[in-house]
Amino acid sequence: MLTAYDYPTALAEDRAGIDSILVGDSLGMVVLGYQNTLPVTMEDMLHHARAVSRGAKYALLIGDMPFMSYQVSTEEAVRNAGRFLQEAGMEAVKLEGGRERVDAIRAIVGAGIPVMGHLGLTPQSVNQFGGFRPQGKSAAAAKRLLEDALLLEEAGCFAIVLESVPARLAQLISQRLSIPTVGIGAGAGCDGQVLVTHDLLGLFDRFTPRFVKKYADLHGEMQRAFSEYIADVQGRAFPATEHSVEMDDNEWQDLMKEVRK
Ligand code: KIV
Repeated sequence: MLTAYDYPTALAEDRAGIDSILVGDSLGMVVLGYQNTLPVTMEDMLHHARAVSRGAKYALLIGDMPFMSYQVSTEEAVRNAGRFLQEAGMEAVKLEGGRERVDAIRAIVGAGIPVMGHLGLTPQSVNQFGGFRPQGKSAAAAKRLLEDALLLEEAGCFAIVLESVPARLAQLISQRLSIPTVGIGAGAGCDGQVLVTHDLLGLFDRFTPRFVKKYADLHGEMQRAFSEYIADVQGRAFPATEHSVEMDDNEWQDLMKEVRK
């Protein structure tokens, strides 16, 4: 699984054969420039989810429910989850949290909408965690995470993202569940893996989490291309003849006769 927020990225991921595309609320940080994911709205998510659904034809499309779109009541949770399918071409939704989300998950699944859970470092709780910190490192916290995972499975989740938790805990959870886990910063023992695409491509230059493998330096490549363009325009190397539209000589002569009158 990879994230995408726009048409060309979804198209490229789909053509590369990715199984699943998450329109993550990481959108807020890597595309919209916020410090965290909390300011992201339903309208932001739907706008980008629509673009992704136009680009991807094969991958399973999952819309990430933003902060405050599912916490207030189960009715709002179902309504907002439904909007991802009805208005944005998504096929499932993802939401963050453990035992405190069980009622919302049951209600959304009950409405016929597949739900992916998300445990561990759940970024919408950044203020409760006191920063983007790994979770489940003590025996007590790890036990609670395992219990939450089992509760989410029981509530009807079809899969669970495990973010920034110890690798052996993620492996244990993966073994105990019958639904798949998808890890990010959770080691190789999960059933699948996900990365934020802007991290993988080197497009987000503010920081790179330790668990990311960078497969490209697109920020550097973009900056190089923009600098080259500026130099070409200033040096009159661009546009060249091959980038210009020509006019038939006879038409040009007619025009000259007209304007010289
Ligand atoms: O918002 C997001 O991109 C996510 C992934 C990190 C799983 O939740």
